[in-house]
Amino acid sequence: MEKIEVIVSSYAAEAKGIVTLELRRADGASLPRFTPGAHIDLFLPNGLVRQYSLLNDWRDSGCYQIGVARVANSRGGSAWVHEKLRQGTSISISAPRNNFPLAADHRKLFFVAGGIGITPILAMIRQCIAEQRDWELLYLARSRQRAAFCDELMGFDRNRIHLHFDDEQAGLCDFRSALRKLGGGVPVYCCGPAPVMEAVTGFAQEHPNNPAFVEWFAPPPDSGGGDRAAGSFAVKIGSSGREIEIGADRSILDVLEESGFCLPFSCREGMCRSCEVKVLEGEPEHRDYVLSAAEKAAGNCMMICVSRAKGASLTLDL
Ligand code: FES
Repeated sequence: MEKIEVIVSSYAAEAKGIVTLELRRADGASLPRFTPGAHIDLFLPNGLVRQYSLLNDWRDSGCYQIGVARVANSRGGSAWVHEKLRQGTSISISAPRNNFPLAADHRKLFFVAGGIGITPILAMIRQCIAEQRDWELLYLARSRQRAAFCDELMGFDRNRIHLHFDDEQAGLCDFRSALRKLGGGVPVYCCGPAPVMEAVTGFAQEHPNNPAFVEWFAPPPDSGGGDRAAGSFAVKIGSSGREIEIGADRSILDVLEESGFCLPFSCREGMCRSCEVKVLEGEPEHRDYVLSAAEKAAGNCMMICVSRAKGASLTLDL
């Protein structure tokens, strides 16, 4: 994957446990264009790769802005950003990718953002305002101190924004009553922690007229572990016919890398779509969080970092 070298041109505390970084090319040249909902990879010097949504105005090609929340049980990603990155630090990033775009025909939208999930939503709201779309936002945070970008949001149009702070409202948000007021046909765009995402997708399943569009920024808590074990299967390489055995405890990506293939990847958790491969034959067992239900049902592509085969073999377009 092509890497872009940038420097941290600005680093600031945004809210409790959240910092905002602005990234620019050292020579001041433009960065690749992006659309609201896009994210970039940060290639951290400790070897980790982490994805962060771009929050700034998509019309500004000179910089990228990201918000990073320090995760309580950080495995070295957000902790490294908070402890080691500072203004002037050089770092490698990827070009933007967008798995969470605004559909052009959605003229009225309802956004749900939980915590740092506000970052892609903030960029999308800018687009709604520029394109005169009708929007509302339900923004959830544990406390007002932890709610990033509140002042900026309120400056857009406070009448469109519903805030829920757990400590002030003495409990979690009642999604059922918040979403029940939605008119038919209004889509819900959501980014936030697992309970928020599950509440919104659950609501959308019960209300097909309010489809949900979601972006996971971490795998759901029950997404790994022993119940994910499955049998071995064979992967056939479409271009050569070579067959490679994938063991029950190995990913396709891991085994293909060991077999000499140089393949794109980023998160290795089924969330970024960078390892997507076309399926020529066989039925994938999808375990990712980026394909839509329709794409999963079609079965003609898969994320080889996490997904497997339902049958004995798969032929991949490699
Ligand atoms: S590497 Fe991110 S989805 Fe596979």
